Amino acid sequence: MSSQGVLSHYKPYLPVTDKTPHLSLGEGDTPLVRANALSQETGCDIFFKLEGCNPTGSFKDRGMVVAVAKAQEQGAQTIVCASTGNTSASAAAYAARAGLKCAVLIPSGQIARGKLAQAFAYGANILAIDGNFDRALELTRELAEQFHFAVVNSINPHRLEGQKTAAFEIVDALGRAPDVLALPVGNAGNITAYWKGFKEYATSPRPSPSKGEGAKVSPLDKGGLRGVTLPRMWGFQAEGAAPLVSGKPIAEPHTIATAIKIGNPASWSGAIRARDESGGEISAVSDDEIRAAHSYLASREGIFVEPASAASIAGILKKLRNGNLERGQTIVCVLTGNGLKDVDFVLASGFEIKTLRAEAGALADALEIQV
Ligand code: F0G
Repeated sequence: MSSQGVLSHYKPYLPVTDKTPHLSLGEGDTPLVRANALSQETGCDIFFKLEGCNPTGSFKDRGMVVAVAKAQEQGAQTIVCASTGNTSASAAAYAARAGLKCAVLIPSGQIARGKLAQAFAYGANILAIDGNFDRALELTRELAEQFHFAVVNSINPHRLEGQKTAAFEIVDALGRAPDVLALPVGNAGNITAYWKGFKEYATSPRPSPSKGEGAKVSPLDKGGLRGVTLPRMWGFQAEGAAPLVSGKPIAEPHTIATAIKIGNPASWSGAIRARDESGGEISAVSDDEIRAAHSYLASREGIFVEPASAASIAGILKKLRNGNLERGQTIVCVLTGNGLKDVDFVLASGFEIKTLRAEAGALADALEIQV
């Protein structure tokens, strides 16, 4: 895939018309990297989909490019979203690219600073409210209705259309769907989009775009859904923000994983459908389990993610501990956001650097090397 981005590469699968602007920041086509340590430990074949490699550092760019291009096509002047951080960074970037105004509503004091810095640098109007994400989303809907702004949260169906393309890439990279797709769940747009993507790619008779028009069909395109495997969808929420696990909205969600600190997911029914149709599950992991998984990813696999992205790894490790992880499965974990967005999370965990004398001997001492 070239760096032309999602709209151009997946045009036949997206609501793109002749009038849709050619918007792109080079999103999509992210690496699928084998998890060496985790595969060995679990006896499974595990891969990471590195969505932090998107232009603004999260999976949101795939959907945002479609939502913003369509808003532009429909003549919108201003886009608006509520966000726990990544949506606002992505919306702000694509609005800047498209020459649109962008307003982002965020829960005050609860956004990782890297994400805030992004929205600020891209020139968005940042509106911090004394309420949580769920309230910010309600207000976003109100503003949009009153002032005819285009909402670019995942309640905008164009967002899910763009985000489903990650499922296509996974199928193309593996040559088939994995047995399991594992991902963190907050507002539940992404799990809904992936499930849509896997089903659509399995049933679509269209040629695989990466092979050019009229060329080879995707491995899953052969017989509709008959005989075609789809993954089981495993969603993971943080224990203090797990409404889909408890079955009821949570008025005051809490977790260190601020990106998924959401009490009443907008795509609730989409997530439940993905879980049930796929024979999957949505379960909860604790903040301590998220911390441990975050550290495991960085120190054992060399992959630095933001805390929410570690939730699926926390879930896999928990299943392993509890004897609930069948060996031999192919599992793709979606690592949704880049670790550089939330460096405070790491620095707050007791990180300290001592300044040493600028002499080789002092350095050798610090490295505990016997001279
Ligand atoms: N991981 C990260 C890094 C996220 O930023 C989000 C959501 C999720 C996972 C969960 O995805 O909402 O589709 O279930 N972030 C949104 C935001 C809510 O505003 O940036 P989801």
